[in-house]
Amino acid sequence: MADGKRTVWTRKDLVGIDDLTREEIEIILDTAPQFVAVSQRSSRIKKVPLLQGRLVVNWFHEPSTRTRTSFELAAKRLSADILSIAASTSSSVKGETLHDTLANIEAMSTDIIVIRHGSAGVPHLLASGHASHIINAGDGRHEHPTQALLDAFTMRESIRARLGDPEAGLDGVKVAIIGDIEHSRVARSNIHLLKKLGARVTLCGPATLLPREIGGMGAETTTCLKSALADADVVYSLRIQLERQAKALFPSLREYIKLFRIDNESLRHAPDHAIVMHPGPINRDLELSSDVADGPRSVILRQVTNGVAVRMAVMHLLANSGGHQAA
Ligand code: CP
Repeated sequence: MADGKRTVWTRKDLVGIDDLTREEIEIILDTAPQFVAVSQRSSRIKKVPLLQGRLVVNWFHEPSTRTRTSFELAAKRLSADILSIAASTSSSVKGETLHDTLANIEAMSTDIIVIRHGSAGVPHLLASGHASHIINAGDGRHEHPTQALLDAFTMRESIRARLGDPEAGLDGVKVAIIGDIEHSRVARSNIHLLKKLGARVTLCGPATLLPREIGGMGAETTTCLKSALADADVVYSLRIQLERQAKALFPSLREYIKLFRIDNESLRHAPDHAIVMHPGPINRDLELSSDVADGPRSVILRQVTNGVAVRMAVMHLLANSGGHQAA
């Protein structure tokens, strides 16, 4: 440990970024490149045996395309067995508690449980009462830790390529997060992570979608898109979560588009080198125009590609490293 960094992972679970130290985040980000290389192998065997004989369970109580398939592929590339449980077809619809369901799943010798749930705190609740490694794949509006990790990995990759510096980090980098901050677990995990890695974070959206407590997380807030984009190295567009809005939080979609949409017109206020990110799924031409989403500044599909490697790193670290002491 010549640079004084801790090199051993000891946590049993990954339930949030808020709990992690900068060192722990860097351990995950620095473990992921070896798994990018596995996925890029030209041979037909894009696998390593690091989780051979282990059982990973994908337990999703909300819809997902990217996260669910990414964890499934990551588990397969680590040679694990994988089971998927959809809440709608499990006994939770008959009133079984989450603890009872998990105890029964664990009776079949599980190792890692990947859970997405609409209620904040469910992964934390399960982590403290069960032996399996729990990974939070999104809990309500609270956190989506692996999304923030793959986002940081993608930002770092883009910045390193632009600067020609393989050691560059996110210190001093400006990230403008635009849109529906209020309902976004992605925003919360990203703010925690980016502040820990020394980035500057500016949040921008309609005042009704900028929650007051967010100021306490160390991010700047503004309702002016032009000032948010000025000097931004990363423009991170968030999905307008129409399904989580109990009442209309801005007057009309037309007004939202005029004031906050990321498109070639609004991007004139950002530096030429700024990259554009989005966690998906995109409301095309609402928060983000199609020509930008599919254009040269977009790294959105790179986020998805990197997600597999980052999730391989997380599962490998949880299952194979250190003393597994609870968070
Ligand atoms: N980014 C993300 O969580 O996408 P899914 O809802 O498709 O998993």
